[in-house]
Amino acid sequence: MQLDLSALSAREAYTWMTDLITPRPIAWVSTTDAQGRANLAPFSFFNGVTSVPPTLLFVPVNLRDGVKKDTVLNLEAVPECVVHIVPHALGEQMNACAARLPHGESEFAAFGIETAPSTLVRPPRIAAAPAAFECRVRQIVGVGEGAMAAHVVICDILRVHVRDDILNDKGAVDAAKLDAIGRLGGEDYATTRDRFQLARPDRKR
Ligand SMILES: Cc1cc2nc3c(=O)[nH]c(=O)nc-3n(C[C@H](O)[C@H](O)[C@H](O)COP(=O)(O)O)c2cc1C
Repeated sequence: MQLDLSALSAREAYTWMTDLITPRPIAWVSTTDAQGRANLAPFSFFNGVTSVPPTLLFVPVNLRDGVKKDTVLNLEAVPECVVHIVPHALGEQMNACAARLPHGESEFAAFGIETAPSTLVRPPRIAAAPAAFECRVRQIVGVGEGAMAAHVVICDILRVHVRDDILNDKGAVDAAKLDAIGRLGGEDYATTRDRFQLARPDRKR
């Protein structure tokens, strides 16, 4: 079959995209508003951009009523965030943070998520996260207008926190210890527990 997504409803087009573009990494993003109140939300339209300069992006889309999400409102006021990687053990707390709380009410407090101070940015870190990227917003690129319009948030990575216990004896990240989860369509998630290797054709051994 073939699909013209722009001829479908926003919901149908979204479902095709999120069912097919899988598995998606999850950015669990802390921000603060101008009064310093913290916010925490997950975004699976997320990826790295380049390492020179170190950059990543994630994409909050507007709510169906066209209202910007708290993460975007906060980034417009305080252009700093911390992007955390989500391990299997924190999946339920991450999912809880997708609830729509009143602006200014912190998911950290609402869902009992312990904070740790950041070093270079104002938003706090999730103490239990295995990896956290302290970021400054480089650019927010708007795509579309109104309901479901996207804000592509491109961030400079200022500092990365990596918990020592996710490293192997060579000092590199051990995927089994990181135990990251990914998002599939609907309410499905994937673990990274079943892995396999493919040798790159252009790399000599
Ligand atoms: C795993 C997961 C991934 C999500 N990915 C996105 C996403 O990429 N973009 C988006 O706009 N919302 C996404 N959401 C929904 C937001 O997390 C949700 O709208 C949240 O309430 C936004 O919070 P905020 O208003 O505090 O920014 C996702 C939710 C979950 C559970």
